[in-house]
Formats: sequence, C-alpha cells, structure tokens
Amino acid sequence: MLKTRFTELLGLDYPVMNAPMSNHSGGRLAAAVSVAGGLGTFGGSNNFGRAWFREQLDFIRSETDRPFGVGFITHLMASDPSNFETALEEGVPVLVFSFADPKSWARAAKDAGSTIICQVQTTLAAEMAIDAGADILLAQGNEAGGHTGEMNLLPLLCDLVDRYPNVPVMAAGGITSGRGLATVLAAGAEGASLGTAMLATPEAVEVPASFKEQVLQSSGEDTAYTRLYDLLGDEPWPAGIAGRVYRNKLVQQWDGRDAEILERREELASDVAAARARQDPELSSVYMGQGVGNIRELRPAGEVVRSICDDAVRILRNVPAVIATEAVIATEVGVDSPQRRRDQNLPGRGSVS
Ligand SMILES: Cc1cc2nc3c(=O)[nH]c(=O)nc-3n(C[C@H](O)[C@H](O)[C@H](O)COP(=O)(O)O)c2cc1C
Repeated sequence: MLKTRFTELLGLDYPVMNAPMSNHSGGRLAAAVSVAGGLGTFGGSNNFGRAWFREQLDFIRSETDRPFGVGFITHLMASDPSNFETALEEGVPVLVFSFADPKSWARAAKDAGSTIICQVQTTLAAEMAIDAGADILLAQGNEAGGHTGEMNLLPLLCDLVDRYPNVPVMAAGGITSGRGLATVLAAGAEGASLGTAMLATPEAVEVPASFKEQVLQSSGEDTAYTRLYDLLGDEPWPAGIAGRVYRNKLVQQWDGRDAEILERREELASDVAAARARQDPELSSVYMGQGVGNIRELRPAGEVVRSICDDAVRILRNVPAVIATEAVIATEVGVDSPQRRRDQNLPGRGSVS
C-alpha cells in the first residue's frame, strides 16, 4: 500500500527500517523486521566481537533471503574496522553510516555492491554523504533516541527533500506511530527508521528487561538530550552530537555540569559501569526518543512494523479531506462570500463534495 523509492530500490513491502542500534540490536531483531517486509538492520559498532557479528549474519540468512543491513558509527570505524571488513566479505546488502564523514568507507561499500544509507544530522553532513555516493539520505532529528544532532526532524527533512530531489530521503527521530510515519511521508520522506519503537520487542534480546520496562513507563517529556554519558565514555563524539536518554536520577543531577563531571569522571564512570552490570535504569544510560510515550506494550517487531504502516495508510487516506474543493477555492478568491455560502447552505472550507 505504501510504495516509495525506498521500497522500490530494495524490494520491500513497507517503507520502514529498524535503526541499527549498537549494543541494542542484533540479528534477531533485523531478521524479524526483514521477514515482516521492512528493512531489518543491526548495529555493527560494538564490543561483542567478530564471532558474534558473523553469528548475526548467519542467523538473518537462516531466517530470510530478503534484504537486510548493518549500521556503523562512522567515527569509531578506524579504531576497529573488522566488522566492516566482514560485512564487505559477506556481501551485506545495505550499509548504514552515521555521525561522521563516510567517504573513507563508502567507496569500498559500493564496490562490494552494497546500497548505502547515510544518516545525517545537518545539511553539511548531507552534502558530505552525497559526495561520498550515498544512495539514500536519512535525516535524523533531535527527537531521536540515542546519539543525534541539534536540528529537529521536520526542518531538516523538508530542507533535504527540497535540496536533493534525485536522492530518496528518509526520516528518523520520534516516529513511533502511524501518525508519525504519515507525517514524514506527507512531507516528502520515502520511509522512516524506527529505533525507540523497536526497543520494547521480544526480538531486541540485547535490551535489558528493566530498560524495556522503562520504555513502557516513559512519556516523551521523560527524555533529555545530554553529553553526560559521552563525557564518561572512552570515545569522543563529533561536535554537535549528544545522546537522548531517559532523564534518570543521574541525568537530573549532573546534566549540564560538564566541568564538574570531568573532575569526577573516574568515580562517576565506575558508578555507571556498575549500574549497567545490574541493569539499573536510574544510573545507566537508557537511550530513548521523544516518541516513547506511544509505546505502551511489548509487541513483536513484525507487528510494530505492520501496525505503524497500516495506521499511516488510514491516516493518509483522510489527508485529502483538508484540501478545499474547487467551489470553496472560488469563494476564497472572491467569487462568493462566506455569508452567501451560509445563506445558500453551501459546503464550508474543508468539506469534500
Ligand atoms: C538504544 C539506541 C541505540 C542507538 N544506536 C545507534 C547506533 O549505534 N548507530 C546509529 O547510527 N544510530 C543509533 N541510534 C539512533 C538511531 O539510528 C535512530 O536515528 C533513532 O533511533 C531514531 O529515533 P527514534 O529512537 O525516536 O525512533 C540509536 C538509537 C537508540 C534508541
């Protein structure tokens, strides 16, 4: 029912992909989304090792021969390119790059025959992605869970759709419902990437149960965009990128106090590591986006894909009703008057004859 350049290019039934979420998505989730007719992906930038990475690819291929993808956090690739090299050897159909200039990796990916999706947070990043040969741009807004930029989704998406008419542009950030998907499709996106919506699924086996519970309990106002966890981590993130997380007790206490965080970095980092080991959402980073309030129950990933897309179709069917009919337009330009319309019992603005 929803046909776009994204679905056509990859032979998908639905114009959605699950976001490649490092440490939060693997082959189980990717396979479920691809089997359902979307584009399943998993995060390739993590410390799970090369054997884990191959196991995910094998699992997906044992479940489906539909397209799937792997995503990389671009600025982390140089320090350990092994999963990327495996992805090329294995001919992974789609590779997703995000957060830094992909040009050092894109040529090899294209030569290996992969379709390249570049998730971008600014118009400058989009320009670099196009120069690197991106097949698809993915505009990521600040509403997104996980790491993201400072621009909100709609202004960035609309700008990129206008700038690059020959490149399919997709949308990411805060899309957790049919209304969200319908909105970005109406704005010119060719599909959406869903991260937060996929956390509360049984197939997201990498996500701790207490984090899934937090997703179900939270509303969009319970998130914060913060550098806190990045300041405590080992790898610096590019300028203009920070993380959107559950606004837990640690974030409430420390967000914005960067100098003090750095002074007490060792102690805080060790508290956070201990909290992660016991899966405590009040101290460890629970990445989630502003659309989290729409997620009210744990549901299989395929059902999430189908219900969001089916709801979007229902909503888009009603959109033509907001366009004034010719008769009404005539009245707006002076052929008629609102008083005459009322007198003659003519239809008002917004009605459809
Ligand atoms: C738990 C989590 C982990 C994420 N990890 C990554 C990642 O490793 N690489 C990446 O490009 N994006 C990552 N993202 C961001 C997603 O790619 C995507 O932009 C975002 O989830 C979309 O917004 P939404 O969460 O509101 O759906 C992550 C998001 C979440 C929620």
